Amino acid sequence: MPSKKPQVIVTRKLPDAAETRMRELFDTTLNLEDTPFTQEQLAEAMQTADVLVPTISDTIDEDVISQAGDQLKLIANFGNGTDNIDIQAATEKGITVTNTPKVLTEDTADMIMAMMLAVPRRLVEGAQVMMSDDGWEGWAPSWMLGRRIYGKRLGIIGMGRIGSAVAKRARAFGLAIHYHNPKRAHPDLEAELEATYWDSLDQMLARMDIISINCPHTPATFHLMNARRLKLMKPNAVIVNTSRGEVIDENALTRMLRAGEISGAGLDVFEHGHQINPRLRQLNNVVLLPHMGSATIEGRLEMGEKVLLNVKTF
Ligand code: 8YV
Repeated sequence: MPSKKPQVIVTRKLPDAAETRMRELFDTTLNLEDTPFTQEQLAEAMQTADVLVPTISDTIDEDVISQAGDQLKLIANFGNGTDNIDIQAATEKGITVTNTPKVLTEDTADMIMAMMLAVPRRLVEGAQVMMSDDGWEGWAPSWMLGRRIYGKRLGIIGMGRIGSAVAKRARAFGLAIHYHNPKRAHPDLEAELEATYWDSLDQMLARMDIISINCPHTPATFHLMNARRLKLMKPNAVIVNTSRGEVIDENALTRMLRAGEISGAGLDVFEHGHQINPRLRQLNNVVLLPHMGSATIEGRLEMGEKVLLNVKTF
């Protein structure tokens, strides 16, 4: 007698190919309208599903986990970062949590490189001039001048997969690689990247031209870039964040960007999800993106395949 297919509930609209395969392999409930689940709907799903497939838009905290049925054995996150899931509470309830690393590393690193070029070179500002009704009055020798990145210093906070992928790209742009990490990277990687390790984040921050946040959001990295640390940065420095908004004190950053104490920022993630500090939007020295670091068709398809693999393997 063929074993009963596991009941899988998917909380958002995933790439078609992944959904089709899930339907073939599992007793799958999809969210074709892509309407984000409420906490009630999430709790309900966790009372019937054997496997839940959430995304960053689902807050899987201790409360909904406590309401989960005993049949729920796996939370297969469609995403690399898992700060939206209380992993300890899940583990204590005998629920395994998986994620989708590696398949989005290069795409996210590309987006970071794009931001590291766009902010100092005022890309969006220039493009907006061309799209605006006032239009462009023609070339001028000292207009729309940006800052060179060739030969400058890049400080990477978090030399993991994405951090080292950024370093490889940045070297090709003539940037000197510096990094801070809980522990030193492997000597071979350091040598390959000609990367300088800084045990002290404070000391690194005071000497860099560009800072890239590539550490996960954990209780230890919440507001890692608080007002005190942001003030250590050079006034001409730029900060780029594609990790999680909670790593930076967004109000402090906004204040300093408005005051010109930090020259620019490229933000793909925000402290309060899609509730963006309205003052950030008023600034012309920022590039703000709607969390699209890993947003490629190939990447999302591979994330779907990785969820499938995680469920099958489990
Ligand atoms: C995802 C991300 O798109 O993977 C991550 O951690 O931030 C993005 O690549 C998002 O998390 C989907 O859940």
